[in-house]
Formats: sequence, structure tokens, C-alpha cells
Amino acid sequence: MAKHTITLIPGDGIGPEIIAATVRVIEASGVDITWESQIAGSHAQEKVGTTLPNDLIESIRKNKVALKGPLTTPVGKGFTSVNVGLRKALDLYANVRPIKALPNVPCRYPELDLVVMRENTESLYAGLEHVVVPGVVESLKIITEKASTRIAQYAFDFARDNGRKKVTAMHKANIMKLSDGLFLDCFYKVAKDFPEIEADDKIIDNACMQLVMRPEQFEVIVMENLYGDIVSDLCAGLIGGLGLAPGANIGEQGAVFEAVHGSAPDIAGQGIANPTAVMISGIMMLRHIGERDAADKVEKALFSVFEDSDIRTPDLGGTASTSDFASSVIEKMS
Ligand code: NAI
Ligand code: MG
Repeated sequence: MAKHTITLIPGDGIGPEIIAATVRVIEASGVDITWESQIAGSHAQEKVGTTLPNDLIESIRKNKVALKGPLTTPVGKGFTSVNVGLRKALDLYANVRPIKALPNVPCRYPELDLVVMRENTESLYAGLEHVVVPGVVESLKIITEKASTRIAQYAFDFARDNGRKKVTAMHKANIMKLSDGLFLDCFYKVAKDFPEIEADDKIIDNACMQLVMRPEQFEVIVMENLYGDIVSDLCAGLIGGLGLAPGANIGEQGAVFEAVHGSAPDIAGQGIANPTAVMISGIMMLRHIGERDAADKVEKALFSVFEDSDIRTPDLGGTASTSDFASSVIEKMS
């Protein structure tokens, strides 16, 4: 029996291409993993009549760990987000997104090293909407003390465990005095238990400007779900684009590792997507399951492709295919 069993969700669009590349690279590190492949989204709808099959949820509950490709959510009418559904079903409350530039990747902030902590279960992003009367729609922003406290706790614990000196909350408590006000109160309550870590806050619109102009002032930034969604893509742009930003959704019942980006329908099926973001998510996953040596091995090989070669996918100005890029990483491991 393999040492680890991990749920694998290839996903939609570029998902199967970048997940296949990442699985090849992880396996080349010698780590002993059995993958339990599961379907979700429109594939699952066609095959088993639901976008979020019970088998998938049970597989993650049992294995505690999943590697996931992006899932498409139709705009407007159609099914609700499977990504939101999965995070809610497993209560994966902390979305952790490290923003760190890679060697030799042209970008605005090559020295940047910050972590976005996004509350993952509530706020407007939960998509609780209804038609009040024709022509009038209500969308509910639910903010709870419980969820706000645990994401703040996660952010400060993370800062302490990873040698970060400052945590910044981003919010709109000047306007949404009750909801974002509660989020901010919980943040400062938790901060009291971490006197060695600086705690501060910024109003979200100014925070976006500061992130573009002087992002080096931030170390760990924490915010509610919708702001976190938007700010994550902004931060990916600071280090060279969506092909490079990894992430993890973490809760008591399990951890699902996936890139910040979506299914990129504009380039799907062409074999040209950048697998780096999912590969780094895979490295985070290996560390999470205690496979530090394998994680270091993959990370070293991936970094040396960037350091010593000009093999790049088209999003970074190169001509390499997704699978060529993976082969180059694997070559560096031998
Ligand atoms: P997207 O992140 O899929 O793409 C935005 C832009 O970045 C596109 O031009 C795309 O080609 C490029 N891009 C993204 N990842 C890339 C990669 N690995 N390599 C090279 N280029 C890359 O965002 P979009 O187009 O708004 O969303 C497409 C679909 O993905 C939607 O249905 C959305 O709901 C879904 N989505 C799913 C997510 C998830 O499963 N966690 C996260 C974000 C979006
Ligand atoms: Mg997003």
C-alpha cells in the first residue's frame, strides 16, 4: 500500500493539462502516493447528475488531502460555484496564498514575499442571493464572529510559525460598520494574544493602491472572502501573473491545494498553460503531508528551470508546452 492516498480533481479547461504535468513532477520526486481521481463540476453533472458528488466529498474527508485543478462556474444562469460548494462542505475556512516572485521571471516586484489569507466560507462570495421583486435583487453579506476570529487566529499563528513580523487586516469598516466592523474587532482581539507580531489595518481601496505602489510594506494580509478573491489576483499580477500563484484551502476536515487561477477557457486544450502555480501548490501539499525532502527536491528543480534555462510557457514569453515544461523540471531532478 502506498504511503499516502490523495484525492485528485483534474478539473475543467486547462485543469487536466496542468494537473497531469504536476502529478508527473511529484511522482518523479520518488514520493509514494496513490491518487484517487474524482470528478466535479459539469463533468460530474453529465455523469452522475450532480456537480459536487458525495464520493468526492467522502474521498477528501477520508484522505484529508486533495490536489485540485480549476473548475468552471458559468456566469449568470447555470449551476452555482462548485469551488464555493466544496469549501463550504468541508469547512475549508482558510485560503492561504503565498505571493513570491520566481527567479528570472520579469515582474514588477521581484523581491516580493507576502501571504494572502482569505476567509473562505462567508461574505458576499457565498452567493446568497434572491429576487425580492422583479427588478430588485438582494445579496447577503454574512459576517460572523466565529469565522472572522478563526481566520485571524490562522493568520497570526501562520505569522508566528513562519517568522513573519506583521499582519494587516484589509476591510471597509468605515462604510460597512457592522459587518466589516465585526471582522476588524475580531482581528484586533486575536492580535492581543500575539504581542510580538505587529497588527495593523487598511481600508481596502487604499490597500489596493498600496499593494500596487509599495507592496513590500506587507507580510501577511488577511481579509474576508470577496476582497480576498480580488486581491489575490491583483497580487498574482505583482509577481508575473496567474500562472505563478499557488494556494491552499485549509480546515479541520482536510486541505485542498489549488492555484489561484481559474480554468482559463481562452487557452484550454492547447497544451500551453503554465503549470507552475499548481506545481507550487503541489509543493505546499508535500510539506503539508510531511514529505519535506520530496517538496525540497521538486522546488529546487522547478527553481533551477527558472534560474538556469529559458524554458518558459507562452504566458511568460516562451514557447514551451505545459508538458515540455514538466519534462524540464523532471530532468533537473535526475
Ligand atoms: P482565469 O484565472 O481562468 O484566467 C484569467 C486569465 O489568466 C486568462 O487570460 C488565462 O488564460 C490566464 N491564465 C490563468 N491561468 C493560467 C495559467 N496557468 N497559464 C497561463 N495563463 C493562465 O480567470 P477567468 O477567465 O475569469 O475564469 C475562467 C473560469 O474559471 C470561470 O468559470 C471561473 O469561475 C473559474 N475559476 C475557477 C477557480 C477555481 O477553480 N479555483 C478560480 C478562478 C476562476
Ligand atoms: Mg479568484
